[in-house]
Amino acid sequence: MNETSSQPKPLTIGVFDSGFGGLTVLRALLPLIPHAHYIYLGDTARLPYGSKSRETIARYAVSSSRFLLDQGADILVIACNTATALALPEIQAAAHPIPVFGVIQPGAEAALPASRNGANDANDKKCHPERSAKREVEGPAVHTAGAPNVLVLATTATVQSHAYLQALTALGLPATEKACPLLVPLVEEGWIDHPVTAEVLRIYLLEALAEAPNATTLLLGCTHYPLLKPLIETTLRNLRHPMHIIDSAQATAQAVASHLPPSSTNQPTTCNFYATDSIEKFQHLGTNFLGQPLNHVHHIDLGG
Ligand code: DGL
Repeated sequence: MNETSSQPKPLTIGVFDSGFGGLTVLRALLPLIPHAHYIYLGDTARLPYGSKSRETIARYAVSSSRFLLDQGADILVIACNTATALALPEIQAAAHPIPVFGVIQPGAEAALPASRNGANDANDKKCHPERSAKREVEGPAVHTAGAPNVLVLATTATVQSHAYLQALTALGLPATEKACPLLVPLVEEGWIDHPVTAEVLRIYLLEALAEAPNATTLLLGCTHYPLLKPLIETTLRNLRHPMHIIDSAQATAQAVASHLPPSSTNQPTTCNFYATDSIEKFQHLGTNFLGQPLNHVHHIDLGG
């Protein structure tokens, strides 16, 4: 992948996560919006966000977003459920008038049955990149028989915010949230197919299914969790409770793409990567997560 060249300035998309997890969103964005320059920031020094207070998460998320804006981002993709759930208004205020896309609303909408999950409100989304759950509550929330019963796995902070519960309830979908605080450190360690991770997952899913025995759809409410999808599928099979698994990466990428006018350039994709902790670790693990080499990783110090 090339670093920034001296060609005319392409659309610059800033993508932010507390760590590697947001690379799953970047991976979904690349084929949908190929003629763009991407700047990815993994705030690895301050990770995990998911165990911190709203104030701290907002401070970290805003300073990370400001960094991307200073690098020339034309739009921001908050590829972190925790930052979206706890700090979206603060990020939007700091970024104004730059559009900010979060992952919660696209993720919740992806849980809708196909008949209700479409680009039918694409124009509305153009005006409201991340629509608020409150706004959704104002509409008719039809609770149809046979609607998906959603189990959301997420970080502790995301679960405590109930951002998914509100967004899904507003869409008329019954939902249960389950905090899985050990999964992010295991993914950041690269233990995506490790017996310890398998056992931790088994315990979390057993606990969650005891609370939500009728769950039909598993929503991965953390951008780190798609890396565990194969292990989650195996675990669910072993528990004899297969479920439809949704991650918000694809839905978020589609929401961003539908917001943009058709590209007027044929420039190749370029990416710059920044990490606030070890470049070597980011490069090594990130390459696996993105599915292609991360050639240009820079260190940036955003303070504490
Ligand atoms: N990737 C983040 C998310 O989607 C969580 C990682 C963290 O706890 O920092 O919620």
